This record gives sequence, structure tokens and C-alpha cells, in this order.
Amino acid sequence: MIVSKFHVLICAGTKLVGDKKGLCHTRGGVELVRKLIEELEEKDLSQDVIVSATSCYGICDKGPIMVVYPQGVWYGQLDEDKIETIVEEHLEGGQIVTQLMLK
Ligand code: FES
Repeated sequence: MIVSKFHVLICAGTKLVGDKKGLCHTRGGVELVRKLIEELEEKDLSQDVIVSATSCYGICDKGPIMVVYPQGVWYGQLDEDKIETIVEEHLEGGQIVTQLMLK
């Protein structure tokens, strides 16, 4: 039985066809995945959040991209500071960070 509260999909910027490295990869997507995992471990949230690194969503200009379920909230143009904010406010505090959502 799955007991995690959230499932986070975060673009690592890989592509299955064409140029293998998408824009999220160029913009540090892999490092952001690591940052997310570290933040969750630091806050003892690893059991509450499943993290899946994904390939390209096809909206690279808005990347790096993260989607948080079960709410289905899309965050974009991520950096390390934004990852910290999302972990603190959404994944720990349960409040969607509306100012970082994709429009
Ligand atoms: S590489 Fe992340 S959305 Fe395209």
C-alpha cells in the first residue's frame, strides 16, 4: 500500500528522440533533482514524497519543470531557491505556491 502524500515528477531534461539533452538538462535539471532529494531528506520527508525524474514535457521554454500530485500543480523555471520554497511550503506545509505555478 502506498502511503506517500505526494508524487513529484521533475524534468531531468532528457529526450528519447533527437537531441538527447533537452533545455531542462542544460539549465541544471539533473542538479535540481539532486537538490530536491537532498531537501526532502534534510526535512525528513522522504517517506512522504515519491520523486520521479522524467524526460522532456515538450515545454522546455518554461523549464525546468516540476509537477506535484495529487494536486496536479505545475511549477516552472525552477532553480535551487524555488525548489527550497516548494519543499517548505507545498510538500511540508501543504500550501500550493501559487506565485511559482506555470501560467
Ligand atoms: S527538457 Fe524539460 S520540458 Fe523539455
